[in-house]
Amino acid sequence: MTVMKIAIGNDHSAVDLREAITAHLKERGIEVEELGTFSRESSNYPEWGEKVARKVVSGEADLGIAICGTGIGISIACNKVKGIRAAVCSEPYSAKLSRQHNDSNVLCFGARVVGSELAKMIVDEWLDAEFLGGRHQMRIDMFDEIVARN
Ligand code: RB5
Repeated sequence: MTVMKIAIGNDHSAVDLREAITAHLKERGIEVEELGTFSRESSNYPEWGEKVARKVVSGEADLGIAICGTGIGISIACNKVKGIRAAVCSEPYSAKLSRQHNDSNVLCFGARVVGSELAKMIVDEWLDAEFLGGRHQMRIDMFDEIVARN
């Protein structure tokens, strides 16, 4: 898929990393919508995760990136929005496979877990990978079946 626009959001722990990732995405020629927070005052990661997720499901952004301290809390928030498949990745291999097999549409990582250079490698591997479809699509469809059942 050709990624034109990415929505990015973060809590207070990830202001610096979000700035670094935004600059990196712009260098790749991708339009970036930064949703906040822009403050280092403590804030609640579900708020920022939901903002990113909504941009993706509405089609206003092709993909999303959401960052908190570990990446875990904000990924849980993103995954509460129907249609979101958010993956927490601390290394490039998982990021690539999250696109190829899981069709992840939001990438999450932790500003207290990965440094900015590793985070850029994770982002690049994720963006350069394509969803493989086939048997993987059938498994993606099973996500909706779980939601319908529960
Ligand atoms: C904030 O202290 C921290 O809990 C948050 O950034 C994140 O790591 C939650 O999963």
